[in-house]
Amino acid sequence: MTMSRFFCLLVVLGSVFMILFIIVYWDNVGAAAFNIHTSISKPLTSHSSRELATSVPITENSFVSDVDEFLDGFLNFNTTKNEVQSDKTESISPRESSRLEENIRGYDWSTKSKLQDIILDQEILQQERKLNLQRFCMNSSFVFPTKDRYFDDIPNRELDHFIVDDRHGIIYCYVPKVACTNWKRLMIVLSESLLDKKGVPYQDPLQIPREDVHNSSSHLTFNKFWRRYGKFSRHMMKIKLKKYTKFLFVRDPFVRLISAYRSKFELENQEFYRSFAVPILTRFSNTTKVPDNVEEAFSSGTRPSFSQFIQYLLDPLTEEKKPFNEHWRQVYRLCHPCQIDYDFIGKLESIEEDSALLLRDLNIDSLFQFPPSYRNRTASSWEEDWFSKIPLEWRQKLYKLYEADFVLFGYPKPDHLLTV
Ligand SMILES: *[C@@H]1O[C@H](CO)[C@@H](O)[C@H](O)[C@H]1NC(C)=O
Ligand SMILES: *[C@@H]1O[C@H](CO)[C@@H](O)[C@H](O)[C@H]1NC(C)=O
Ligand SMILES: *[C@@H]1O[C@H](CO)[C@@H](O)[C@H](O)[C@H]1NC(C)=O
Ligand SMILES: *[C@@H]1O[C@H](CO)[C@@H](O)[C@H](O)[C@H]1NC(C)=O
Ligand SMILES: *[C@@H]1O[C@H](CO)[C@@H](O)[C@H](O)[C@H]1NC(C)=O
Repeated sequence: MTMSRFFCLLVVLGSVFMILFIIVYWDNVGAAAFNIHTSISKPLTSHSSRELATSVPITENSFVSDVDEFLDGFLNFNTTKNEVQSDKTESISPRESSRLEENIRGYDWSTKSKLQDIILDQEILQQERKLNLQRFCMNSSFVFPTKDRYFDDIPNRELDHFIVDDRHGIIYCYVPKVACTNWKRLMIVLSESLLDKKGVPYQDPLQIPREDVHNSSSHLTFNKFWRRYGKFSRHMMKIKLKKYTKFLFVRDPFVRLISAYRSKFELENQEFYRSFAVPILTRFSNTTKVPDNVEEAFSSGTRPSFSQFIQYLLDPLTEEKKPFNEHWRQVYRLCHPCQIDYDFIGKLESIEEDSALLLRDLNIDSLFQFPPSYRNRTASSWEEDWFSKIPLEWRQKLYKLYEADFVLFGYPKPDHLLTV
């Protein structure tokens, strides 16, 4: 009797010891990854802008000259300074911008160079974006679906947009239609996750074929962690989320929709035609016979209008079987900004400056420049044209559907589209 109880106790103690051992072991693995990471890349800047002004190492001359050299080739400084600032004031509310002014005026800038001003402006802008996000995540009167979920409750399939680079300690949440191709290229090169024809990891982001960039097998994403870490996958994700630098790029939600429509319905794309254009035409146009083939459809001028696309987004039946396609799924559903504490929030509207700062923060600015986009980018100024044919009531509903993306990322409500 006493012997068996003794054995029971021994088994229990043994199990407890094993569990503790496993926890400690994994934490050590995380710590090791962290040490590697910190020795390669600088820690990101601290949280308040006051600390920031004193702790950002921009006074080190060698560092400045590096950045100088890099930025010189990248931005046309004398001419862009004003544009940079007008961009900023556009994307934040007047109250925030007056706060920003105060932050800037609080210090004596006379001895610092223009370049340092710009970098500091950019750093302050980052702080503003992060604070705005935090404020609305914590504001209990601002609600949207899945807001109050814990990280552990996010299903694995909703973590498929987080690309992890263990070599440098970087996590990128990609948002389609927001320059994601180029950042995916960079992640492939950084993590050496794809080999070229000679069996050597790609060195030049632009050499990687487009189809490989978007092939999910080229990237290590969170939803694949279970293969590598089994039941510890959540634990590993959390360790990496804590130690790594996490970033994403966002864009005005309505302009992103126009861009998605242009690239997926105005260009011939058999896959998108079959999966989305055919259902949209069947449900929302009076066409009785919808062609199966995209070439046939385009030659007869059959394609969904922007208005039918909006109708499709607003119809609750659309998401009955499958969530929105990633090209028009809301950013808050792709990147979970209230569950993940992003270190860097870039915007497509200021992609050049934001990319330069991010590359600097990641300490890879000597290796890469963000490739300029030569494509015909959808401009915000087209918004009015595109939405002019959409009934007012639909526009208002559409705003509700994407409101969280507008608010969390500081895009002003497009009042001119939402009132008569
Ligand atoms: C920028 O400023 C420098 C010196 O102030 C000048 O030499 C250069 O021509 C300017 N570049 C442009 C594009 O205005
Ligand atoms: C919280 O959110 C509500 C609803 O969006 C808004 O009216 C209010 O101003 C917000 N409060 C703060 C402190 O941001
Ligand atoms: C993606 O890459 C894998 C491995 O290289 C390959 O087997 C697969 O066919 C690719 N998928 C597509 C859609 O190209
Ligand atoms: C489709 O047909 C209905 C009635 O059959 C009509 O009211 C509607 O305006 C038509 N829609 C279009 C886009 O032609
Ligand atoms: C860009 O696209 C718009 C709309 O699709 C078109 O009107 C314009 O001509 C294009 N511009 C260039 C330079 O291709």
